Amino acid sequence: MRFEGNRSVSKAYKEAVVVPLFENAVTRLSWIGEFDSALHKDIAHVISKGDFKGKQSAMLTLYRPEANFKRVVLVGAGKKREFNLEKLRKLVASVDTAVQQFNVRGYTMLIEPLLPLSASDYIVGKACAEAIVLSRFEFDAFKSKQEKTKKDLNVVFWGAPRGDFNKGIQDGVTIGANVNFVREIVNTPSNTLTPAVLAEKAQAIARELPGLSCTVFDKNKIEELGMNGIISVAKGSICEPKFIILEYDGAQGKQGRPIVAVGKGVTFDTGGISLKPCNGMEKMKYDMGGAGAVIGFMKSAVELKLPYHLVGIIPTVENMPSASAYKPGDVITMASGKTVEVLSTDAEGRLILADALDYAVKNYNPSALFDLATLTGACMVALGNKAVALMGNNRGIMRKAQQYAENSGERVWELPLWDDYSEMIKSDVADIKNTGGPGAGTITAGAFLKEFVGNTPWIHMDIASTAWMDTTERGYLCKGATGVGVRLLCEIIRNWNK
Ligand code: BES
Ligand code: MN
Ligand code: ZN
Repeated sequence: MRFEGNRSVSKAYKEAVVVPLFENAVTRLSWIGEFDSALHKDIAHVISKGDFKGKQSAMLTLYRPEANFKRVVLVGAGKKREFNLEKLRKLVASVDTAVQQFNVRGYTMLIEPLLPLSASDYIVGKACAEAIVLSRFEFDAFKSKQEKTKKDLNVVFWGAPRGDFNKGIQDGVTIGANVNFVREIVNTPSNTLTPAVLAEKAQAIARELPGLSCTVFDKNKIEELGMNGIISVAKGSICEPKFIILEYDGAQGKQGRPIVAVGKGVTFDTGGISLKPCNGMEKMKYDMGGAGAVIGFMKSAVELKLPYHLVGIIPTVENMPSASAYKPGDVITMASGKTVEVLSTDAEGRLILADALDYAVKNYNPSALFDLATLTGACMVALGNKAVALMGNNRGIMRKAQQYAENSGERVWELPLWDDYSEMIKSDVADIKNTGGPGAGTITAGAFLKEFVGNTPWIHMDIASTAWMDTTERGYLCKGATGVGVRLLCEIIRNWNK
């Protein structure tokens, strides 16, 4: 698979050429002449007949056996002033999917008319590459006949002359591949992907990538460290909990406080004794989406050589009901020393994250602490699958997340963490309780985590609603795990010192 942007017509694939056109620009075609004058003439002809108006997602294929460029796909980009990066991703993905049916090795896409987007060439290149790589993802690991339908076609983007476009393409291919890697493990069912298997995957990545190290604590060590939040949630399962630490020092020993990302790794969430309804429970295999995002981010950071000292931490468990399971009413003394009354064994994510956040604070003194978790169903109610819920105790980091989210293709939206919400998790018998009552479920979960980060600059991202798609509305994301978080974290950290 080879993707590149250039301006040399001789490097263009002749078998298939994609020409995107805006609705109001179908009559301004002279630029196509710069690419190929016969093509310009043919397209002008089609348009003069009124058969193609550039409406969003319209597509028309011309076969030109006598011409230099054999197949031409006209694709509508819609209204120019409504065009944005997300529309670009969807357009590129739908084109790539359409071209897959052709018997070709590669194709040329005339990117020129789309370029005056407000984003930099780097960001546009990255968006194009990510959209293609993501749209080619197919999860067939559990089909008895492997039935891949997507080919690794090469793509030349013609008309992207500036150097940064190609850097964006390169980084986008790397990040896209890692998002797909995450989608693969998040989609993997929990009878295959247990905490121990997740830990092995992290170790395998560290073995493959020089500079990345991986440490895994087993149940004894977790117990020894007093992480009773993790121990308690894991008690009902025959799978032992694991505590995974990935570390990459891209700052080359310029010691300083690392940036730490923590991800929720519940390989399956039945709810425990506070059992979930059976309808849709099968989806709870994606309750390790935060863990996946952290692994995918760390892998990307090493491959992109991001110049920072980064640590990824994953507490991983399976939440099951059984004779040995933890129960409502139990009081847990967490690693931090705080006591927690369990009101619902289904509010398990915050319990394992609390111990992991405490571990990060005590052992790494992070300059910034992130956590990503499929934490609350209420997140779906608040934002649907359109945005990650963002909370935190530090304006600066929140602002960075907000600033870079849009370009990454993964939106965030802030919810407040006022002290009033912390009042909602006070317990009668312990310091705090693990649920906050009927209202503001996403926020009270955030307020719970806040109890364990002290003064460390921290943001929490609830990815419950964005980590999984039930529809194909995002175009380049098929149904199932989305791998959300990788693109977002990469973009935030890439811009960290700006
Ligand atoms: N893993 C769930 C949250 C979730 C729900 C993620 C649906 C994705 C889709 C989490 O552990 C959970 O069960 N949260 C409870 C908290 C409640 C008991 C306070 C919830 O949201 O219902
Ligand atoms: Mn739960
Ligand atoms: Zn959960």
